[in-house]
Amino acid sequence: MKKYMAAEFAALKNKKDLIILAIESSCDETAISIVKNGREVLSNLVSSQIEIHRRFGGVVPEIASRNHLMAISNLYEEAIKEAGIKPQDLDAIAVTYGAGLMGALLVGVNFAKGLSYSLNKPLIAVNHVHGHIASNYISHPDLEPPFMCLMVSGGHTALLKISDYNKFKMLGSTVDDAAGEAFDKVARVLGLPYPGGPEIDKLAREGKNNIKFTVSNSLHNTLNFSFSGIKTSVINYVHKFEQKKEPYSKADIACSFEESVTNELVEKAIRAMKLSGQKKIVIAGGVGANSILQEKIEKACKENGFEAYYPKLKYCTDNAAMIGSAAYYYIRKGMGLASLDLTAKPSIDL
Ligand code: KG4
Ligand code: ZN
Repeated sequence: MKKYMAAEFAALKNKKDLIILAIESSCDETAISIVKNGREVLSNLVSSQIEIHRRFGGVVPEIASRNHLMAISNLYEEAIKEAGIKPQDLDAIAVTYGAGLMGALLVGVNFAKGLSYSLNKPLIAVNHVHGHIASNYISHPDLEPPFMCLMVSGGHTALLKISDYNKFKMLGSTVDDAAGEAFDKVARVLGLPYPGGPEIDKLAREGKNNIKFTVSNSLHNTLNFSFSGIKTSVINYVHKFEQKKEPYSKADIACSFEESVTNELVEKAIRAMKLSGQKKIVIAGGVGANSILQEKIEKACKENGFEAYYPKLKYCTDNAAMIGSAAYYYIRKGMGLASLDLTAKPSIDL
């Protein structure tokens, strides 16, 4: 299919102000945001399905898609109203097309296609991970590449060298579970509600770091991560006590697990910065909301003369403002234009 709206898209590259409506529906948040010039959020609405999925202990894909469908039209109306603009004032429609749950992504992608067609505005396909990185541009108006990025979400854990907007190099990544996945699984074993990350963060504050849960040593000299071993150690520890019907402290487990995981993340992030000569690091993704991780990265950066950045809490977890910001930098570089045959992709490369 011929590139959809190529001429309209080309005209945007040098337009002074760009107002982008962005849609995010990759997992269990339906989100729509309107962002001006990549950094100014005119409206940012998130309809969370956490309460719906909580009773199942995790996200049920089919239920997620159905709830996205029910929420998305109203969110659009509200987002336009809150931003105080008319639909025709929009310059482009951006949407997360991957990675994520297929059915969930498709709701956002199809809604975005409908808007693009009916409003006659270019459609921009955004990689969810690029959105998480861009969440820092919204929270820190002066932040510009180059920098190191520690990407820690439910689906990704990686160290990325960001040498320019849209110029990314993966220096290391997890070889098994993502950090958020490990937090969620450990929380589940401890009987904590979904999503487990924030629950462990809270509970760990009441506990002591007195149990030796260590991350795998085999990747010690690399910038890669492995969290499946420590997750299994926690599961085995809990099962041992339960079999013997002996009491154990959930708070101590949460604290010891969190200490070990955050030490590993910070140690490798600092090593990556030293190796690649970066002076700034940004944290991106839901686990970036972890209070201990934020404390440790700040401390380590201070000791090494580096600067640490992380997004405001509401931009750490999934939102559409970050998608609007990423789309802005795509457009400025002439990237990201999609046609009406755009489809969702459950997994995509960086
Ligand atoms: O970025 P995100 O909202 O979705 C993905 O793209 O995956 O990240 C969700 C993940 C979940 O695993 C959740 O438990 C974790 O981020 N998370 C946290 C905290 N808040 C959210 N993990 C640790 N501590 C937190 N405070
Ligand atoms: Zn995410």
